[in-house]
Amino acid sequence: MKILVTGGTGYIGSHTCVELIKSGHEVVIVDNLYNSSITVLDAIEHITKVKPTFYQVDILDKIALNQVFLEHKFDAVIHFAGYKAVGESVSIPLTYYQNNVAGSLNLYEIMREHNVKKLVFSSSATVYGDPHTVPIKEDFPLSTTNPYGTTKLFNEMILQDLYKSDPTWSIALLRYFNPIGAHESGLIGEVPNGIPNNLLPYIAQTAVGIRDYLRVFGDDYDTVDGTGVRDYIHVVDLAQGHVKACEYVIHHESIEAFNLGTGKGYSVLQLKNAFEKASGKEVPFKIVERRPGDVATCYADPTKALELLGFKAKCDVDQMCKDSWNFQKNLK
Ligand code: NAD
Ligand code: UFG
Repeated sequence: MKILVTGGTGYIGSHTCVELIKSGHEVVIVDNLYNSSITVLDAIEHITKVKPTFYQVDILDKIALNQVFLEHKFDAVIHFAGYKAVGESVSIPLTYYQNNVAGSLNLYEIMREHNVKKLVFSSSATVYGDPHTVPIKEDFPLSTTNPYGTTKLFNEMILQDLYKSDPTWSIALLRYFNPIGAHESGLIGEVPNGIPNNLLPYIAQTAVGIRDYLRVFGDDYDTVDGTGVRDYIHVVDLAQGHVKACEYVIHHESIEAFNLGTGKGYSVLQLKNAFEKASGKEVPFKIVERRPGDVATCYADPTKALELLGFKAKCDVDQMCKDSWNFQKNLK
């Protein structure tokens, strides 16, 4: 099948391109390289022996995006392109709505015009807001606490309305929990822009000495050791989930939301300890105030993805930390 991957040179997109190619699919990437590098294409080629077709196109540029659809007949689209920094979205909300909502609308309109109606959308567990209980199931109430999260929820609502208006669409809304790790080759991984907001990149940069110490945001939560608990999922597992979701939308006409997580929670200190074990490096830390907006515990019920997609995450946190370290140590 020929798959368009928007944001395909980014962190999750690049790993998904590798898994799509390994599964025999043909990949075309659209990315404006705002948060990724053209060198990712060489890395994908190195891993898979196939260089994907690439267009440096901004999804806000409707004419250029339409041209890509004129040149290719796609079987499905996986839509990653977007901005993802929660804190930044609070400072520049209009930029986030413009890119993540208006950009997506351009894509959906062009897909409709070219009769390409199979879509996998990158949503996030952030759409569950502050869940009342865990594990989180797909039918839990949805709410958001920041503009980034609202752009994800708006996309989900737009796509629900689109499906209602035309049930020949087929859409998977993938709600990721906390992706970490990197490809085992160490050739692709997450390269954070500036000071990392997320835990694992911060731990990794502390381990190589770029940061002095990890700030642990609160140790007084009602959790195993008082620090926040999250569902970390290996990015290669996540990428394989996209291949399954893509094959699902190609063979069904429906709209479904899926949690992509492991179903297991790890605390901040547990993840730090696992990283120290994997890297052999000490990660100094200080306990500081809670970070506003954080929830104590967040992990998925991954049953629906297993039942409908046949997807189950395989890697444990030790593997995730090992692969993150393998990528990080080559970066310095
Ligand atoms: P990323 O920043 O590494 O990748 C996004 C890619 O989209 C980048 O390569 C960027 O250059 C590109 N892009 C951004 N705006 C664009 C535009 N207007 N036109 C074309 N390309 C554009 O991020 P990621 O971690 O790979 O995330 C991919 C998707 O998954 C995003 O939509 C993100 O919101 C979502 N998501 C990520 C996480 C996470 O923790 N990484 C969690 C939940 C959801
Ligand atoms: N944490 C620290 N110190 C840090 C960074 C994080 O202690 O320097 C803690 C947080 O308080 C939290 C845990 O580590 O308890 C995980 O924090 P992250 O920032 O890595 O991840 P979040 O769960 O807060 O958010 C992430 C993405 C969101 C996405 C959400 C959905 O950043 O975009 O997962 O699952 F919406």
